[in-house]
Amino acid sequence: MGYVLAIDQGTTSSRAIVFNAEQKVVGTGQREFRQYFLKSGWVEHDPEEIWDTVVSTIQEAIRNAGLVASDISAIGITNQRETVVVWDRKTGKPIYNAIVWQDRRTASFCDTLKRQGFEKAVVKKTGLLLDPYFSGTKLSWLLSNVKNGQAHAIKGELCFGTIDTFLIWRLTGGKSFVTDATNASRTLMFNIVENDWDDYLLKMLEVPRTMLPKVLDCAADFGVTDPEIVGAAIPILGVAGDQQAATIGQACFEPGMLKSTYGTGCFALLNTGQDMVRSKNRLLTTIAYRLEGKTTYALEGSIFIAGAAVQWLRDGLKIINAAYETGPMAMDADPHQEVYLVPAFTGLGAPHWDPDARGAIFGLTRNTGPNEFARAALEAVCYQTRDLLEAMHKDWSSNGKETVLRVDGGMVVSDWTMQRLSDLLDAPVDRPVILETTALGVAWLAGSRAGVWPDQADFAATWARDRRFEPAMDDKTRKAKFKGWRNAVKRTLSTF
Ligand code: G3P
Repeated sequence: MGYVLAIDQGTTSSRAIVFNAEQKVVGTGQREFRQYFLKSGWVEHDPEEIWDTVVSTIQEAIRNAGLVASDISAIGITNQRETVVVWDRKTGKPIYNAIVWQDRRTASFCDTLKRQGFEKAVVKKTGLLLDPYFSGTKLSWLLSNVKNGQAHAIKGELCFGTIDTFLIWRLTGGKSFVTDATNASRTLMFNIVENDWDDYLLKMLEVPRTMLPKVLDCAADFGVTDPEIVGAAIPILGVAGDQQAATIGQACFEPGMLKSTYGTGCFALLNTGQDMVRSKNRLLTTIAYRLEGKTTYALEGSIFIAGAAVQWLRDGLKIINAAYETGPMAMDADPHQEVYLVPAFTGLGAPHWDPDARGAIFGLTRNTGPNEFARAALEAVCYQTRDLLEAMHKDWSSNGKETVLRVDGGMVVSDWTMQRLSDLLDAPVDRPVILETTALGVAWLAGSRAGVWPDQADFAATWARDRRFEPAMDDKTRKAKFKGWRNAVKRTLSTF
């Protein structure tokens, strides 16, 4: 007993991971699904494909663990955040594709709302900004662009959910219509001061309250799976957006603790405790987790493209076959060529918030080849992390306490990238032994709620470092490189 299943529904793949009572991975399943880029800046997923991949990876993970569904004590769900699904309450059928967090189609709507003077209230109530990244304007778009969307919503016939809500609804056979505070906090409709959906914001976005799920703590009773679907009635006891789950999995429970996750995008979260720190540097104030009714806040820096730049080298440029090739290629790149890639494929996130910017590459010469492209893609992730951390340091003082960045996500297996990150940050970087921090975080929420996993303090004590990367680049080189990056970003902004 003590087995916990974590479902990690990400931007490019769905994964399921079975942990045993000692928090060790004993079974996994993973499936990629299609990305639909119908127009420039648009990104969609088919919710049915998401659902199919989730069900099949659950079965695969349980099978790989040598278990049957009834051996699982609890389920935790973590997910790509902000992505919007709307479905028919009666049939459970989505009325449109999922509009993905990266999608920029509502940029002009956000501009209109800004011109109408809404941004101040939005920031105050949600901790977010008026940017198409968040769910609210995507939901508005959907209700006004799908035939009779608004009318059906008003009649209470439609349900809105981020991916967690959609999956819980499906897994429980339509019995539970719920989300957690972290996912709610990314929608642009949730008041993080009052911990409730906000009528002023709902009016601004023309969203009827009836279509919104009930918001629960991150460890709570989210419902029980339908045995017809999963093979047993298993309680869903933990839910958190993937970046918040990684914060938990990295045991960043104390104010001042900081993690950065390198998945499709890169998201740095700094735990600020019960303090809702308001950023003066275009970072987000968000809910890190809510446990037993008590909210812990975070400052967040969000970068839209990290691993996705490597994916572009593979699928777009076709200059690599697999992501792991990029580290050695970067190492072989010509040190005299300063090539900068600004991966603004879907605009720029923090601290620029420029939805209309598009990617650019600078410094090409006749000698530039795949190695320099690979290095530029990896360095772009490091430079962007530095942009975020500089903003964080301005917003929040550590009062002299050491804050070491804890990293996780697919890209951190590359020693070259982590060393370069430490070099460009001029700060140490800690890589943990367990890199499945997102899944682990949500498994802990579910496992501790079920009473089969340790409490918070004992769980935090299990965090172990695999390696600390220390800065080794000389100051002059670092400064020159960073100046080049700043210049490249300036020339990429849509206002240039
Ligand atoms: O906010 C978007 C984020 O949740 C997506 O995470 O892991 O797909 O980069 P990831």
